[in-house]
Amino acid sequence: GRLVVLVSGTGSNLAALLDAHDDPAFGARVVGVLSDRPGIRALDVARDAGIPTVVVSLKDFPDRAAWDVAFAEAMAVFSPDLVVHAGFMKILGAPSLERFGGRMINTHPALLPSFPGAHGVRDALAYGVKVTGCSVIVLDAGVDSGPILAQEAVPVLDGDDEATLHERIKVVERRLLVESVGRIAREGLHVDGRTAVIGPPA
Ligand code: GRF
Repeated sequence: GRLVVLVSGTGSNLAALLDAHDDPAFGARVVGVLSDRPGIRALDVARDAGIPTVVVSLKDFPDRAAWDVAFAEAMAVFSPDLVVHAGFMKILGAPSLERFGGRMINTHPALLPSFPGAHGVRDALAYGVKVTGCSVIVLDAGVDSGPILAQEAVPVLDGDDEATLHERIKVVERRLLVESVGRIAREGLHVDGRTAVIGPPA
């Protein structure tokens, strides 16, 4: 299947998906990488792998609605079978959900519904949880609120700070994301309201 990956940061999840290309059984290929901002390491990761990149910056548009339309159109150019939000730090609006709803997944470094939003690792640490983790969900119109596809727990250790905890989560997150994307590519993804199933329609 044709994957489009959305990034805003270091791109370690993107790198994990690119590494999976080496597995002939993976069943998916990254055909394009889009970002909302230039100059991030994830774009270098894509370029080093020869993957086309597109940056659609909010500041280049008169308003958010115009940016939303432009972002959806930029994704459509790649005819994605699946869009993977891998550390993408914007909430896409109706234009993307209308075109790709049910075919967009997101990885989040917390056990949703706990600690949604841009600081899930920091919030879990601040709360004092002993176990956190990562979640792969299907995007819906909310923030990290869509149906859950996969989760895995990660322990919080004494002395953890946001960086050490996030790195421990990312080791698990990269594996969970690659597994989920591979299964969707091979078996399909069927979403019905709050229920998302990888595999043939029930
Ligand atoms: C990931 O943990 C993702 O879940 C979170 O930000 C991190 C991005 O990491 N939103 P990277 O850019 O894929 O290295």
